[in-house]
Amino acid sequence: MNLVIRRMTLADVPAVHEIDRLSFSLPWPERSFRFEVSENPVARPWVAEVDGRVVAMLVLWLTVDEAHIATIATHPDFRQQGIGERLMIAALQSARQEGARTAFLEVRASNLAAQNLYRKYGFVVSGRRPGYYKDNQEDALLMTLENLDHLEVT
Ligand SMILES: CC(C)(COP(=O)(O)OP(=O)(O)OC[C@H]1O[C@@H](n2cnc3c(N)ncnc32)[C@H](O)[C@@H]1OP(=O)(O)O)[C@@H](O)C(=O)NCCC(=O)NCCS
Repeated sequence: MNLVIRRMTLADVPAVHEIDRLSFSLPWPERSFRFEVSENPVARPWVAEVDGRVVAMLVLWLTVDEAHIATIATHPDFRQQGIGERLMIAALQSARQEGARTAFLEVRASNLAAQNLYRKYGFVVSGRRPGYYKDNQEDALLMTLENLDHLEVT
């Protein structure tokens, strides 16, 4: 597989929005991705490309020494091929080079696939936000990776 991981550009936004729409019950408006790419100074948006096609996306927010994974999704046709983990590792390693020491994210309590991905790289459940998701009042688990120096790449 010819996998390329690179920063998201405005030209990627329609494909990214489509992946988002196919992946979440509460997708972001397309303009939110444009904002992340062109206006949000703390945003580090990424995509993964296979043979020139955008197949996964991730938005990370970097504030001083904290990396917050705001969203991550792989196109349904390209899941379970190791793309999401390559993308997440690349984004976290880059954030670490920019000074991040810890990483965190929110994930639906029922989203075991994503939780497995995060656990595989050392994230642990560090809190719960009751009723965080507005479509079904589902709780979010807060997952944290305390020390990015311990990010083990297999
Ligand atoms: C979560 C998601 C991004 C994973 O992307 P992916 O490209 O399929 O993931 P990978 O192939 O890199 O898998 C990496 C690890 O994630 C876990 N994982 C991925 N899919 C899984 C599944 N269906 N069931 C259980 N574990 C899964 C496994 O631990 C896997 O490692 P392994 O292959 O050694 O078992 C993808 O399922 C997705 O887009 N889901 C919808 C959007 C979403 O829920 N995003 C997370 C929001 S917090």
